[in-house]
Amino acid sequence: VNDVAYGPSPDVIATIGHWATAINRSPDAYSTRLTAALSRLHNLPAHCFAVGAGSSQLIHDLIRCSIASGVEAIALDPSYTEYRRSAISAGARVRTIRLNREETFRISPDQVCQNLSVDTKLIIICNPNNPTGTVLDPNDIRHLLSAVGNDVVVLVDEAYIEFTPHMSAIQLTDEFPNLVVVRTFSKAYAMAGLRVGYAAFGNDVSKKYSTMVRPPWPLSTLAENAAICALASSTYLDLMVGKLLSDRDRLMQALLARAPVDVLPTSTHYFMLDLARSKLGATELCERLRERNVFIRHCGSFSERLGDRYVRITTQTDLLNHRIVDEIERVLS
Ligand SMILES: Cc1ncc(COP(=O)(O)O)c(C=O)c1O
Repeated sequence: VNDVAYGPSPDVIATIGHWATAINRSPDAYSTRLTAALSRLHNLPAHCFAVGAGSSQLIHDLIRCSIASGVEAIALDPSYTEYRRSAISAGARVRTIRLNREETFRISPDQVCQNLSVDTKLIIICNPNNPTGTVLDPNDIRHLLSAVGNDVVVLVDEAYIEFTPHMSAIQLTDEFPNLVVVRTFSKAYAMAGLRVGYAAFGNDVSKKYSTMVRPPWPLSTLAENAAICALASSTYLDLMVGKLLSDRDRLMQALLARAPVDVLPTSTHYFMLDLARSKLGATELCERLRERNVFIRHCGSFSERLGDRYVRITTQTDLLNHRIVDEIERVLS
């Protein structure tokens, strides 16, 4: 997993303590106060938002309400693998858009458009993408939405958008009824253990989603109040994101300087290492590091196409970042 190394804001922890005495009562079934806070933050109507137990729950629900058996979904390759799993379990075929090393895994909206077929009912864009860290500009997403027509749902997963906030497509939900943007408190807000995510809908997706039968009380009292507090703690979020990004730059430079690897450009706190110049492939590197209690991700688990050539590194605390560099240098030299 790609969690951040630091905890949430101290105010969030205090809020959880404060609300702990209220857990004998059921939470607000509609998370009204959190939805109102999201509405204020994004300057979009409150009825455009839905919350869920992590973005995973929303992603699975949205995929299930957007496609039916026999239709086609489009997803990036490599990308977060849950989309594919969920679309296939809904009976859909998945067509993949191949991101290539020669283009530093850049996402091209034209390539997505060229792959549309009459059966395409859903396009899923992970933005920034996991594991590549590449990002599409909102103008490119606008271009894509204008090209695909309203009967295709475009789901943009912005799990890591706080690392590059001006790239968000959330404001486009006002303009494009077929767009849904999903976000999470699990990454930059450092609350993965609490399970809070949200979606901002265009009108058509909202109608589809509201036909789904969902269990009541998607968020606990602790989760809702912690999320409201996290939204109010924007100074802490900015500090955390700033630190992780400058630590990431140092980590990337140190790896480039001390190991026979290439680091690929990224917009997030994680990045891919290309091992083409190294004496070990990804499997052996991961294995040798695991023996020393350093865990990195083999990118072949995102896509077989990537073979044994890439790993994903996620920026950690200062101490661990030094360890990662020392161990990779030791193993590859
Ligand atoms: C791209 C992406 N989307 C969604 C998720 C799910 O996050 P959560 O369910 O914790 O919100 C992850 C988790 O790693 C992810 O990488």
